[in-house]
Amino acid sequence: MFWSDTDTISKRLGVKYPVIQAPMFGVSTPQMASAASKAYCLGSLALADLSADKSVELIRETKKLTNKPFAVNIFVHDIPEITDSLQEKYIRTKLFIEQLAKENSIEVNLPKLEEIKVNGYHEQIDAIIEENCKIVSFTFGNLDAQTILKLKENGVVLIGTCTSVEEALLLEKSGIDMICVQGIEAGGHRGTFDAENIPQIGGLSLFSQVYDHVKLPLIYAGGIYNAKTLKASKDLGAQGFQVGSILLASQESALQPYEKERLKNVNEKDIVLTRSFSGRYARGIKNKYIETLDHSDYILPYPYQNKLTNELRRVSKTLNNADFVSIWAGQSIHDYSELSTEDILRKLIQECETL
Ligand SMILES: Cc1cc2nc3c(=O)[nH]c(=O)nc-3n(C[C@H](O)[C@H](O)[C@H](O)COP(=O)(O)O)c2cc1C
Repeated sequence: MFWSDTDTISKRLGVKYPVIQAPMFGVSTPQMASAASKAYCLGSLALADLSADKSVELIRETKKLTNKPFAVNIFVHDIPEITDSLQEKYIRTKLFIEQLAKENSIEVNLPKLEEIKVNGYHEQIDAIIEENCKIVSFTFGNLDAQTILKLKENGVVLIGTCTSVEEALLLEKSGIDMICVQGIEAGGHRGTFDAENIPQIGGLSLFSQVYDHVKLPLIYAGGIYNAKTLKASKDLGAQGFQVGSILLASQESALQPYEKERLKNVNEKDIVLTRSFSGRYARGIKNKYIETLDHSDYILPYPYQNKLTNELRRVSKTLNNADFVSIWAGQSIHDYSELSTEDILRKLIQECETL
């Protein structure tokens, strides 16, 4: 029986199969989470750093679509202090990006620093508890001790993300229930606690070392795109399997047709790590914006770069301009199926069982 030694995670998460649809902010949708649950997997709702009200709206929308359990996923990051030098750099960066956009026929007015609203995660936690969500996954750091206690008192299962053994040990020590080990292959943002100083450890090396150092049940994320890659992480001791990039072109993905098209034409040299869009390292498809900004002096710390470039990305999306949007994707290039999330996951599970 392929899944027999992965019972712990399935039971804790209340699913038949320990396969987790990765939270993918901007791409995954309530429909995707619901479709994952139809395949008897765990769906995830990406709430990133949204306001409590918006988080509640999305949680309720998902609940309308499924009565199965799903994870809600939040960003747990530090908010850098606004200093004079940050202010000065913000103005310079805003001007540079507006000018670059204009040269490329994109008219945008990016927000001033004082117009930006940065949300911490605490207000989301109260909303999550009130909405009776029972699984919370998080990335970019660890929850504070009081929040961990509060969530546990409310019977919430906690899944932290690590990109190093050091982070895994911190998560374990603080009482987190499970750890998602994110290999460097993974699409999207690195879950590293320190935004600017990331370990770049391949999934194979990272997972084995984390497995040797912590006792918690482990989920693997990064590069799983078929039964063999899933089994490879299972052989190393993974009990849960988080998949993101295989769902990028699915019916429930929020990517636009032109973005899916770009994905299908991607080659190995196109997939890069960049801080240019958000100020944190994320893996995606190289484009004109990334090439211009990377290695420049126009990258602010997260979340300021992210907030600054949101409007550029929004407008570029409406213009079908793949050169100024962030298309996050992992290193495992494949055919990016356009089937439903349910069918893609069912197929993966079936392939695993017939290996
Ligand atoms: C488009 C995209 C957005 C992502 N957004 C999030 C997110 O909001 N929260 C999170 O914890 N991980 C996020 N991730 C990372 C995934 O959870 C996961 O680690 C990754 O997709 C696994 O690697 P794979 O893409 O090779 O399957 C994102 C990944 C992608 C591709």
